[in-house]
Amino acid sequence: MSLERERMPVGGFIFDLDGVLTDTAEFHYRAWQRLADEEGLPFDRAANEHLRGVSRRASLELILKGRVYPNEKIEAMLARKNSYYLEAIRAITPADVLPGARELLAEIRAAGLKTALGSASRNAGEVLDRLGLRPLLDAVADGNSVERPKPAPDLFLFAARLLDLPPAACVVVEDAAAGIEAAQAGGLRTIGIGPPERVGRAEAVLPSLEGVHLAALLNALEHRA
Ligand code: BG6
Ligand code: MG
Repeated sequence: MSLERERMPVGGFIFDLDGVLTDTAEFHYRAWQRLADEEGLPFDRAANEHLRGVSRRASLELILKGRVYPNEKIEAMLARKNSYYLEAIRAITPADVLPGARELLAEIRAAGLKTALGSASRNAGEVLDRLGLRPLLDAVADGNSVERPKPAPDLFLFAARLLDLPPAACVVVEDAAAGIEAAQAGGLRTIGIGPPERVGRAEAVLPSLEGVHLAALLNALEHRA
């Protein structure tokens, strides 16, 4: 008996935003660094690596490392970080779409497959509009769509439902370990973008979307499955 399992054909792709379609990861980092510096909290780029794909509140908890603050202070810090972030993303233009992303989205849809956004960010809608990517997406799931953030599977399951596809027919494209974990917990297929140390648990790993075509994505999944 063959060990090969019949795979469901791929019907759509769900893209993470920060670090996959655009590099807002840098803006998040600078906003957290500014807040941490003002609050005298130790923080640097290395610490920021652990925040990739992590929700706003959970990110602050990681920065606080068990330090206890009154609730109002926590809320105020979250709001301040977000205001720094919003200030920064005003500068985003369509030129900030990462190389290859726009072409790939268009190619996927031209092939009759579906595309969705699956981002933990509550600001994803604004970023999408600034990038001019909304017309290339069939559905948008963001930090406002579900209660439990990644690594819970809820966001990707929500996106799959919006696309009207079973989870196993969807491929999640993610740059964060928490995102890969979330997709796998929901039974979705996975492609990691970035270094294997970070996204090596994905079924296939690519350094970026630059020059990547639909056929390459499907091949990569076929050969690692
Ligand atoms: C994710 C980012 O996409 O969104 C995280 O990778 C960020 O860094 C999270 O914390 C939440 O974003 P926002 O915009 O709601 O604070
Ligand atoms: Mg990301």
